[in-house]
Amino acid sequence: MPNPLDDRAVYTFDDLKSWEVKRPGLPPSLAVLGHPVAHSVSPQMHNAALAELAKKYPQLKDWRYFKFDVFPEQLPLTLELLQQKGFRGVNLTVPHKTDSAVLAFADLHTKKLQAVNTLVREGQNWLGSNSDGYGFIQSLHRDLGVNLRDGPEIVIMGVGGAARSVVIACLEEGCGKVWVGNRTPEKLQNFVEQFNRMKPASHLHTLEAFKLAAPPTEKWAKNALVINATSLGLQSGDPSPLNVSLLGPQVKVFDLIYHRQGATALVAAARARKLSAADGLGMLIWQGAKSLTLWIKALEGIEIKPEDITQTMMNAACGELAISPPRNV
Ligand code: ATR
Repeated sequence: MPNPLDDRAVYTFDDLKSWEVKRPGLPPSLAVLGHPVAHSVSPQMHNAALAELAKKYPQLKDWRYFKFDVFPEQLPLTLELLQQKGFRGVNLTVPHKTDSAVLAFADLHTKKLQAVNTLVREGQNWLGSNSDGYGFIQSLHRDLGVNLRDGPEIVIMGVGGAARSVVIACLEEGCGKVWVGNRTPEKLQNFVEQFNRMKPASHLHTLEAFKLAAPPTEKWAKNALVINATSLGLQSGDPSPLNVSLLGPQVKVFDLIYHRQGATALVAAARARKLSAADGLGMLIWQGAKSLTLWIKALEGIEIKPEDITQTMMNAACGELAISPPRNV
């Protein structure tokens, strides 16, 4: 069993099975489940924020956040065991967010997203929600000065789970026209048709598909917001999903991906052209801060604003990622 005070420790399903035996006294615990999960800096972010908050709220002193590498087939039993072992809250990351085992706990709004990243303990049950949309909206506003309520035109690349959450957040906030591009045309067609068929009255616009290999940049608004929600960029050395030289000078660029090593190819190319561009690190911090405030409110009745803990979380994440100096949030 790894050292419980080591934020880099990766626990397994077997560690969870013997959790009480090996960790006497069981402090209030939180966990992120993923596969793989070793790269996650969530324990550093959350434990730094908890340590800071404990100075003011001593009841948080013993709270700790752990990461677990769990295979998809272990997920249903893991969620049950986490209940039995008294865990207070859970984050889900790739590939578990869209698993039917967690969707079963989703609240009404989250069911629509078909993706859960936060579970809050509610007695013997979990309540599932998603703080990714909140993280995305906050990061857009703070890192790029974009307010979705001003109705900017959105160009989104990708049609997976991440793209779905982002498109829903944009439409619900009242963005302008939405263009969607994808490598595989059939998946693009399905995505766009599904959205347009279900279009609620609150969504002002339908989606329009475009070919990723031949983006109709001349049709996009001058100040459109271009978002990468494909997995292209996850591996260092991945090329940019879009030829940035086609973009006008007022276009802003947001990449859901972030890198230890610096900017993604998309963000680097955009900045080289003097376009405003942000990567996914801000979104990571804001979604994490939102989840932690949800758990603390539900389980200790303490109201904390995400903005009160984001800089601590950012400093901890940058420390672990060796990004120096740490970024401001
Ligand atoms: P996530 O849950 O992170 O969104 P996903 O559901 O697997 O992941 O979706 C991945 C998205 O990235 C898809 O839109 C995928 O395009 P395809 O539908 O063509 O597979 C896109 N993607 C993955 N690798 C890509 C690549 N090398 N070039 C362009 N798009 C890519």
